[in-house]
Amino acid sequence: MTTRIRRIGVLTGGGDAPGLNAAIRAVVKTAILRYGWQVVGFADGYEGAILGRARELGLDDVRGLLVRGGTILGASNRANPFHFQHPELGDAEPRDHSRTLLATLEQWNIDALVVIGGEGSLTIAYRLHELGLRVVGVPKTIDNDVRGTTATIGFDTAVCTATEAIDRLHTTAESHHRVMLVELMGRDAGWIALHAGVAGGADVILLPELPFSPERIVAVVEARRKRGRHFTIVAVAEGAKPIGGEAVYERLGPLPYQRKYGGLSVVLQQQLSTLLPTEVRAVVLGHLQRGGTPTPRDRTLATALGAAAVETLALGDHGVMVAVRGHPSGQATWGIVRVPLAEVARGPRLVPLNHPLLATARDIGISFAQPDEEQAHG
Ligand code: F6P
Repeated sequence: MTTRIRRIGVLTGGGDAPGLNAAIRAVVKTAILRYGWQVVGFADGYEGAILGRARELGLDDVRGLLVRGGTILGASNRANPFHFQHPELGDAEPRDHSRTLLATLEQWNIDALVVIGGEGSLTIAYRLHELGLRVVGVPKTIDNDVRGTTATIGFDTAVCTATEAIDRLHTTAESHHRVMLVELMGRDAGWIALHAGVAGGADVILLPELPFSPERIVAVVEARRKRGRHFTIVAVAEGAKPIGGEAVYERLGPLPYQRKYGGLSVVLQQQLSTLLPTEVRAVVLGHLQRGGTPTPRDRTLATALGAAAVETLALGDHGVMVAVRGHPSGQATWGIVRVPLAEVARGPRLVPLNHPLLATARDIGISFAQPDEEQAHG
């Protein structure tokens, strides 16, 4: 028989994303106001849960959090309890500290844990669930690449930031007759580049899911120039790769997720500069996409998911992620569902090649720099 819940833990794993604080606030408020539970916040993702860096969170601690970017708990996208090393633990190399984490949670009298995280943190949550931990996941990441949900906390804000950047680049690109490459985050998934590219009116979008031909980018720039358009905007997903080539990243460790992406736009700038008479410039938007105040949509999503995570535990369910089906803007169809963490752990949710937004983009002449592209470019 499972013990009654009196005290839950909450942590924010992975990279930060706008709306994390709103989710923490919803977890704390629902747990205290609706169920009379205590809440403990663990610092810096799984690191605090291993090392016992934690504090109780009351209603006063979450006042004013709705609008604040980042996370009051701190986050870490390097702290994997199954492969962890820290001076305090005296290990010469990374080792499995999942049992250390479970013992720490027991010391803190934690009956269940809410993990607000992306695909990596939720996969870890699944493995902890398999070890017997009562855990519920909440999907967050600007990348929007979590399986089982159509929206993640932070994505909407990141798309707004990226779109605004493309808007600003438009005017300067046009004034100076330049090709502007704007590099956007997303690792292996092109959701941000696709959405911001369409919303910002990019001429070319490069996605990790669709390896590109540099020659096609040249062809688009030339076709536009012939029609009197002396500038071109290219939205570059950081994980995109040329056909037959590799993505640009730095290895941080032996595990597949230990990669730091970034730099493709600079490589492409050099390459395209040799192929085009037009000046080519690169802008890497980087962590600007992760900062700032969450949009109303992200605040609403974070609040709904945070509250739903606590309700899930109250209903006696765990080993699941609370998720969204439908689009948050389509109120009639928006619903919160529960998805097994096992499903989430199957890997990132990439842009499917039959996604309707790809077809829409093609319809209006946006190029994905595919060798067989036949459409007229805008
Ligand atoms: O996963 C979210 C994300 O923002 C990715 O899009 C990006 O590649 C990565 O985090 C960057 O992480 P870091 O801040 O550790 O460099």
